Amino acid sequence: MWWSNAVIYQVYVRSFQDSDGDGVGDLPGATRRLEHVAELGASAVWLSPIYPSPNADYGYDVTDFQAVEPTFGTLADLDRLIARAHELGLRVILDFVPCHTSIEHRWFRAHPEYYVWSDTVPNNWRAAFGGGAWGHDPVTGRYFLHSFFPEQADLDWHEPEVRRRIAEALAFWVARGVDGFRLDALDRIMKDERLRDDPPATEPPPFPMTPEDAKLDHVHSRNAPDVGVALQAIRAAVGSAFLVGEVYLRTSEMGPYLEALDEVFSFDAMHSGPDARRLAKAIAAGVARGQTGWVLSNHDFSRLPTRAGPGNARACVMLLLFLPGPVFMFQGDELGMGDAVPAGEPLDRNARDGFRMPMRWDTSEHAGFSSTTPWLRSDGSQVPAAVEQSADPGSMLSLVKRALTLRASLGQDRRDARVIESPPDTVVVARGDRLAAINLGDEPRPAPVAGTRLVLEARPGDGGDLSVIPPHGGWIATAAS
Ligand code: NOJ
Repeated sequence: MWWSNAVIYQVYVRSFQDSDGDGVGDLPGATRRLEHVAELGASAVWLSPIYPSPNADYGYDVTDFQAVEPTFGTLADLDRLIARAHELGLRVILDFVPCHTSIEHRWFRAHPEYYVWSDTVPNNWRAAFGGGAWGHDPVTGRYFLHSFFPEQADLDWHEPEVRRRIAEALAFWVARGVDGFRLDALDRIMKDERLRDDPPATEPPPFPMTPEDAKLDHVHSRNAPDVGVALQAIRAAVGSAFLVGEVYLRTSEMGPYLEALDEVFSFDAMHSGPDARRLAKAIAAGVARGQTGWVLSNHDFSRLPTRAGPGNARACVMLLLFLPGPVFMFQGDELGMGDAVPAGEPLDRNARDGFRMPMRWDTSEHAGFSSTTPWLRSDGSQVPAAVEQSADPGSMLSLVKRALTLRASLGQDRRDARVIESPPDTVVVARGDRLAAINLGDEPRPAPVAGTRLVLEARPGDGGDLSVIPPHGGWIATAAS
């Protein structure tokens, strides 16, 4: 499969490239920058939602599943992007949002039966971004379910017409030439039809969530046992197109999802922070499961240099790009972008502006992103621009390119990776006769297996002694098996 060893580059369209001088990225701009993605050695682009949206949740509140947001361009602009991507050998993946629509979607009034309603607040379910999950509708006096912001009403996937309408939309995009979909919030797509209360939690949550959500064990508000009903409808609509699911669950819970999807993201690995033990366990679990992709960063959580610590970013990038299975890279990861301190009024109510800063292409006033002040601005230090990093063999961009060249030579075997027991703070993974060893701590550590010939080092000099894994660094080497 083309995605088995793919590097899938996430384009957050609003922040990638502005072409018409309004300070907001758009599709013609993104098309112009596809060469950058192809030159990196990526295999595909994933476009963050491109549908019309009032932007309560920046594109994840959709008002029409079969159209393009006018700020981003037209359907013809998207056709041109797809054609150019294919010319460059890049696949195109759309972000699709099957769990909910904007309350401004025509369906919300014309087809209330597509949504989940109750005369009173029926249970204790919480919304992901805070507060209860039931919104009061002043028009009907009833309550509708919203798993995210109150402007995002949950669709009722038990309703056959919902499945039919979404299938229609997916087929529309497949017919236009898209190669796959990143499916949003799938753990929320099916919930208990009887709307029973979630019981109190018995253990801390595995991943970040609001404190009130963390108090509950989400056995009814999400991840319902009949999730296959929704997923099979989606699979039937897209045929053999690539499907990667955003399923906010542990790798061990992904079984039912993977019956219909090709891949899921490893949130276990993404949320391991600078904890090498956790990262090693997450890698072992993902490799054993198969169908698990690795995420450097995305638009929802702190970027890799912030999550793992700025000193560990190079080692983590090198290791993640060494793993079998698709790797998802967020625009700016290749420049080492960490979280920024946003300037001006916050735009995202869930405090995610700092992860979504415009790309830094060059050293001009607006960094080559736009001819005017960008929609999102940051205070404080920034990474060197792409053009500067291209010219610097020691830059993050140069490391990423080298890691991707190496990756292309590693082959397609999804099961060839072994996590090797290693000292504290370290993660060591073998693939064939290659060994990747990284150290996220402050002390040098002995390598459990010494490398014999250096292949790649996280920082210049890291591979000087292949019996040692240097602090906040690492190497890839050949090793006697
Ligand atoms: C996950 C998306 O990645 C996030 O940005 C969005 O806010 C929620 N799903 C709701 O659609």
